[in-house]
Amino acid sequence: MFEYLVLEKAEPLSSLNLNFMQTLEQIAKQVKNCQKCDLYKLAKNPVLGEGNQNAKIMFIGEGPGAKEDELGRPFVGQAGQLLSKLLALASLKREDVYIANVVKHRPPNNRDPLPDEVAACWPYLEQQIMIIKPKIIIPLGRHAMARFIPIGTISKNQGRVFRREIKNLGKLYFYPIYHPAAALHQPSLYRDLENAFKRLPAVLKKVEVN
Ligand code: URA
Repeated sequence: MFEYLVLEKAEPLSSLNLNFMQTLEQIAKQVKNCQKCDLYKLAKNPVLGEGNQNAKIMFIGEGPGAKEDELGRPFVGQAGQLLSKLLALASLKREDVYIANVVKHRPPNNRDPLPDEVAACWPYLEQQIMIIKPKIIIPLGRHAMARFIPIGTISKNQGRVFRREIKNLGKLYFYPIYHPAAALHQPSLYRDLENAFKRLPAVLKKVEVN
């Protein structure tokens, strides 16, 4: 039986009320020049995201780490290597999905992004979601989850399907899971992560027909 949780009382996420649709290339240019918070000052490269622009599945991490900052690409460090291995459990490759982050510039020393940094960066992520129109969003870890699912803990919510309305996009499905970096530090989480990826094709099928 397929079960998902509907966040009926959740506040709709802020929206830009865009008059026109931008392209990912236009957003990349804006992010390159973005000074809406201080993260750009220490970062080497912004990391907008990458992958299939028609992806049904969109992964959203927290923010670029050292390797990502160096290369300007998401999830290319150790956590990214694990993500690629986990994708294979769902018979997926990186090119099949779209991968983005909540903040586009690296927080110094990989600290958690601050609420005002997350808020400043939100319009970029919002536009990415509008363009990709994924069937399901997979927030990686508690910070990305908190942006969309404002209830519960990651350990309680991981592997569960949520449905929430986003202005301009209608209802979207969310499937929060542990951040791969968490499993690198705490191998006991690996099994849940592995199971979540093994279930992903079935979850996607269900949300597509719902
Ligand atoms: N961790 C993240 O949350 N994002 C990345 O791009 C890399 C590591």
